[in-house]
Amino acid sequence: APDCPPRARAAVASLEPGKRAPWIAQAAAKGTRIFADVGWDETGAWDLAGLADLEHCEAFLPNAEEAMRYTGASCPREAAHALTEHVPLAVVTLGAEGAYAVDRRTGEAAEVPAIEVEALDPTGAGDVFVAGFVTGTLAGWPLADRLAFAGLTAALSVQEFGGSLSAPGWSEIGAWWRKVHSVASQDPTALRRYAFLADLVPEETAPGWPLRRAVPTIGFGRST
Ligand SMILES: Nc1ncnc2c1ncn2[C@@H]1O[C@H](COP(=O)(O)OP(=O)(O)OP(=O)(O)O)[C@@H](O)[C@H]1O
Ligand SMILES: [Mg+2]
Repeated sequence: APDCPPRARAAVASLEPGKRAPWIAQAAAKGTRIFADVGWDETGAWDLAGLADLEHCEAFLPNAEEAMRYTGASCPREAAHALTEHVPLAVVTLGAEGAYAVDRRTGEAAEVPAIEVEALDPTGAGDVFVAGFVTGTLAGWPLADRLAFAGLTAALSVQEFGGSLSAPGWSEIGAWWRKVHSVASQDPTALRRYAFLADLVPEETAPGWPLRRAVPTIGFGRST
């Protein structure tokens, strides 16, 4: 990787405890908006001071367990509020329950439940969520719409095997949007949370949802 990434409106950083990555400060200084993710702290320290590059980040998107360990908070929502002492926008993902966000700059908090799906493979849910959140942020959407969109992209991805290979494209999001409208038992109030998609999804070009896609064969061992 280059020392500093090319000019970009946004970048996603995977923060490593106890280590600074010089590209983060350089990119932030050039106006790149940095969205930070984190993983399990193998050192067991769970010390926010060890995530020094957080000072250059606009948003931090840990999962509930990580957020509680880093803040010492007893619930994910309390953890999100505590994190805003270190970063302007904290988004705590709650797995199959959805996500909760607090924006220190506006004083706004938002929570969006996850879409109920049959999860085949949660690999990459966090990464796909961040990508969806960045997309909505660059588009200037309200906080709750960004959470809903990020959660939708992640929920679509966990229904397929694989990490990045299972991230949905616009045609798949459009196919889902049309499909849920055709289900009579679908709660209209729940659907309204996704109404912003109506102006965004492309016209129908592909067959209905779910789409058939290539399945990665890596990792499928024989049990005999
Ligand atoms: N079973 C599920 N059903 C629906 N949505 C899900 C499910 N699991 C995850 N998601 C969506 O993905 C988001 C991120 O998932 P999660 O909170 O598990 O992150 P994570 O633990 O960081 O994941 P990763 O292991 O990829 O790092 C959730 O906020 C939710 O929107
Ligand atoms: Mg994660």
